[in-house]
Amino acid sequence: MDLAGRTALITGGGGGIGAGIAEAFVDKGMKVVITDINLDYACAEAERLGHGVLALQHDVTSLDSWAEVKRAALDAFGPVEVLCNNAGVAQAFKPLDQVAPDEFDRLMAINVRGVYNGVITFAPDMRERGHGHIVNTSSMNGLLAHGTFAAYSASKFAVAGLSEALRVELAPFGVGVSILYPGLTRSRMSEGQQPGLDAKTAEAIRSRMMQPVWLGRAVARAVETDQLHIITHPGHKAQVEARFQGILDAHGAPAEPGFVGGSIKID
Ligand SMILES: NC(=O)c1ccc[n+]([C@@H]2O[C@H](COP(=O)([O-])OP(=O)(O)OC[C@H]3O[C@@H](n4cnc5c(N)ncnc54)[C@H](O)[C@@H]3O)[C@@H](O)[C@H]2O)c1
Repeated sequence: MDLAGRTALITGGGGGIGAGIAEAFVDKGMKVVITDINLDYACAEAERLGHGVLALQHDVTSLDSWAEVKRAALDAFGPVEVLCNNAGVAQAFKPLDQVAPDEFDRLMAINVRGVYNGVITFAPDMRERGHGHIVNTSSMNGLLAHGTFAAYSASKFAVAGLSEALRVELAPFGVGVSILYPGLTRSRMSEGQQPGLDAKTAEAIRSRMMQPVWLGRAVARAVETDQLHIITHPGHKAQVEARFQGILDAHGAPAEPGFVGGSIKID
């Protein structure tokens, strides 16, 4: 898809990766809507980027809020052609059995239900128009699970699985789907993730974080070329290979001796 002149809506665009995507899209000549639960964050990024970027208050967990931003984007720029479901929250590092039920539910509500809400708000129109693209932000934690980050990983594995299935569903209608799997990137979330660290260690970790605009440029390329997986931090390749190799290695003889069944292709 050629991006110039197209309309994009980016959730959680009031900083970090969402703002990096917005910046890359503006550079491509797109009309950009930044939404965020924190309107001040969204307005600050819109002002930084200029080029008529529209900032809207938005709670991705609420379908009413989705309906409002859809209407506002349509009034300002016309139909949204590129949707980036990027808003997300992390958790404090701790074992899963110490994550409170309401904390687990909140992660799922924003990171997973929020993406689903975006899809049901915009995918039917895109399918009808026979054109559009949806980018969902997962994480390297959606490919590699780490101890003390189980709830977050669960939400990001869910985003990846949902997105791969969605790509199959929407491809026949000319609508693309991409998954962004960021590694450590500068943002309020990542920089607020290590409370209690001394200043030197915090700065050392910060210096190893990628600048968000580079992720934005990778997203722009993926939309242009309809690429499914967006890997911005390839340094984790050996760990990803080891995980998939473990899964492949587990494919031995069937549990039921002589079993020949499998999945059935339904047309
Ligand atoms: N920064 C990283 O290292 C990193 C790595 C992997 C994945 N990610 C993912 O990237 C995405 C962006 O995160 P970021 O790192 O830029 O952090 P960030 O905190 O800068 O951005 C997330 C934004 O989402 C907004 N938000 C929170 N709840 C919301 C809601 N209910 N509705 C709408 N907006 C809401 C926040 O106000 C915030 O501005 C997230 O999905 C995150 O999980 C980040």
